[in-house]
Amino acid sequence: MHLKLSVLASTFACAASLASAIDISVKSTGGNATNGHQYGFLHEDINNSGDGGLYAELIRNRAFQISERFPATLDGWHSVNDAKLSLKTLSEPLSDVLVTSLNVASPKEQGQVGFQNDGYWGIDVKARRKYTGSFWVKGTYSGQFTASLQSNITGQTFGSVKVKSQSTPDKWTEHSFELTPSRDAPNSNNTFAITFDASGAKEGSLDFNLISLFPPTFKGRKNGMRVDIAEALEQLHPTLFRIPGGNMLEGLTNRTWWDWKNTLGPLKDRPAFTGVWGYQQTNGLGLLEYLEFAEDLGMEIVLGVYDGLSLNGDITPKDQLQFFIDDALDQIEFIRGPASSKWGSVRASLGHPEPWKLEYVEIGNEDWLAGAPKGWDTFKEYRFPLFLEAINKAYPDIQVISSGSVYDGYDIPAPGAGDYHVYAEPDTLVAEFSKFDNVKQPHIIGEMAAIHPNGGSGWDGPQQPFPWWGGAVGEAVSLIGYERNADRIIGAAYAPIIRNMNRWQWAITAIQFTADKVTRSTSWYIWELMAAHPLTETLPATSQFGPLYYVAGKNDKTGGHIFKAAVYNSTDGADVPVKLSFESVEQGTAAELTILTGPKDPYGSNDPFTGVNVVKTSKKTIRSDKTGSFQFSLPNLSIAVLDTSPPTSRRWNRAVRGSS
Ligand SMILES: *[C@@H]1O[C@H](CO)[C@@H](O)[C@H](O)[C@H]1NC(C)=O
Ligand SMILES: *[C@@H]1O[C@H](CO)[C@@H](O)[C@H](O)[C@H]1NC(C)=O
Ligand SMILES: *[C@@H]1O[C@H](CO)[C@@H](O)[C@H](O)[C@H]1NC(C)=O
Ligand SMILES: *[C@@H]1O[C@H](CO)[C@@H](O)[C@H](O)[C@H]1NC(C)=O
Ligand SMILES: *[C@@H]1O[C@H](CO)[C@@H](O)[C@H](O)[C@H]1NC(C)=O
Ligand SMILES: *[C@@H]1O[C@H](CO)[C@@H](O)[C@H](O)[C@H]1NC(C)=O
Ligand SMILES: *[C@@H]1O[C@H](CO)[C@@H](O)[C@H](O)[C@H]1NC(C)=O
Repeated sequence: MHLKLSVLASTFACAASLASAIDISVKSTGGNATNGHQYGFLHEDINNSGDGGLYAELIRNRAFQISERFPATLDGWHSVNDAKLSLKTLSEPLSDVLVTSLNVASPKEQGQVGFQNDGYWGIDVKARRKYTGSFWVKGTYSGQFTASLQSNITGQTFGSVKVKSQSTPDKWTEHSFELTPSRDAPNSNNTFAITFDASGAKEGSLDFNLISLFPPTFKGRKNGMRVDIAEALEQLHPTLFRIPGGNMLEGLTNRTWWDWKNTLGPLKDRPAFTGVWGYQQTNGLGLLEYLEFAEDLGMEIVLGVYDGLSLNGDITPKDQLQFFIDDALDQIEFIRGPASSKWGSVRASLGHPEPWKLEYVEIGNEDWLAGAPKGWDTFKEYRFPLFLEAINKAYPDIQVISSGSVYDGYDIPAPGAGDYHVYAEPDTLVAEFSKFDNVKQPHIIGEMAAIHPNGGSGWDGPQQPFPWWGGAVGEAVSLIGYERNADRIIGAAYAPIIRNMNRWQWAITAIQFTADKVTRSTSWYIWELMAAHPLTETLPATSQFGPLYYVAGKNDKTGGHIFKAAVYNSTDGADVPVKLSFESVEQGTAAELTILTGPKDPYGSNDPFTGVNVVKTSKKTIRSDKTGSFQFSLPNLSIAVLDTSPPTSRRWNRAVRGSS
């Protein structure tokens, strides 16, 4: 973040002389308790944001998997020293689900031969970083394997390790190794190779499968997440994590929905997943990995369960729905059942005896969209009501959520909640400031982002190439509207959250990445600030909205009084003076005021290619004056948070969880 303390000084100088300040007085009682969860995100494996993204595995196509739509291929693999690579389906495969393996035949009787992998558009190689790898082999070989990382451009080796062969012809044997490069690679154009000495392979070839390489992972989790991406997510202070994504849950057909049972246990027992984004997924990033990641970031899960609708419009008839209801109940039991329960014991056997907390279960994803109108009709007629009844019968405390909102034309039956998705232009997000003021059913904003410039709308209309400042301010206005209704709004999730720059062409995400770089967008900065100051209670305040939009409240854990605001299109682009008083805040009270402003051009972005951050952050301590008011002014297209809690009490974990 850029701290620009000097900006504030001039802002205050002019504030003093302004007579027409917006006067906001905040009462000390009469607001509503919030659920404290407000901010989070949706992640799914869209265009290699899971495999090749958040999931830290470096090897592309590590197990030559097959799924309904995709055959096994040699994608990502190349021969070293003219070895002949071919796919084989052996009579004794590595496992029931990993049936294809890589045969590596040597064209000569001596010398090193083998194969190398491109990674996901390269591999980030750093000195002194410990990479952990493994591979399975079958065949006669006495000698050593060499595992190495090298430049694909110059051939320079950055690190290598010898692995003594345990391989035999009659069964598959796993080999593990650690590899610590001795130097940094100058770029990400690197490959991972395994070679062996042809003279030790008596039958002329060896079979390989499940070739894996991980860098150190976030919190050191086995089969875990990529550190730099996970940190950029953690720094957003998220409290909600919607899994396993949206469309991915539904699958292309009702034979290929995201079946959580396929994502558990040893990697060699996980079949591939056809996916819905045009490529095959490994299922390496499975339910347990998502849950552990939620635990590591202190997020609560919003669990999407398959509800009998797939993207091609396959709909499960009423008399067959019980199978999927039971499956959802099994999944809930897996997550929060005691270790003595059927599925809780499976969780315990996978190393997590303690149940997770699970309060939110969402039925399907965007049921108003696929198979319209029958998809939505059957959802309202029997699919949602049956899931709602069964889940609440077994778990009365779970908030069951409909995958559509009241605005999709569903008067959601109690005690259900709704889910509203909004991908829009900033003007729309601003116009929707009061959208939930009079909606009685609770809602989650399960997906949201500004994606279109003003004037360009429709899902297929022109989108911005990256999140941009004006769009981010538009998001802030809607977010403030949601916080004003935080007694009924469960929270809002940015979606989709991360984007692999090597594969996405158009859509907007809060974070972009390549093999060795992570970029925080303009929206990232806004969501970070909004989430860093959670309200436990809203407070009634003078309401006079536009061009200044705001919410006021307090946090019981920190004792802070909080004001969050956004300015969108002020008159002639002038600063907006504010005079803010809290009934229960005495004169001379100190508060921290944080203001984010953007570039001159509202369409300015944080471009991952230049790495320039256009968001300016200013922080300043100000005091309430003799009348008990805080006076300051906010620039056009800015967002701001004022918080009276002492900075030491405001540490994120304490503010949310009340721990000390
Ligand atoms: C290095 O990798 C990047 C990303 O995959 C690619 O765009 C570029 O062409 C590569 N450069 C060379 C010299 O191979
Ligand atoms: C390495 O070079 C080969 C041949 O040019 C290319 O196909 C492959 O994509 C490159 N891999 C990486 C990681 O740069
Ligand atoms: C799957 O979809 C087909 C075609 O829409 C439908 O006939 C069948 O009943 C569905 N099966 C299940 C289990 O939902
Ligand atoms: C995924 O990437 C492909 C190109 O690789 C692109 O055509 C497509 O639009 C992308 N899909 C999404 C959802 O971004
Ligand atoms: C508290 O909730 C009620 C009912 O939803 C609403 O009418 C009122 O405006 C809310 N008050 C505040 C300060 O948010
Ligand atoms: C400020 O607001 C005006 C509308 O009054 C808008 O047209 C303009 O683009 C905004 N200026 C900046 C610098 O963002
Ligand atoms: C705000 O200003 C921008 C830039 O001038 C313009 O595109 C947009 O329509 C304006 N919106 C409103 C609600 O005034």
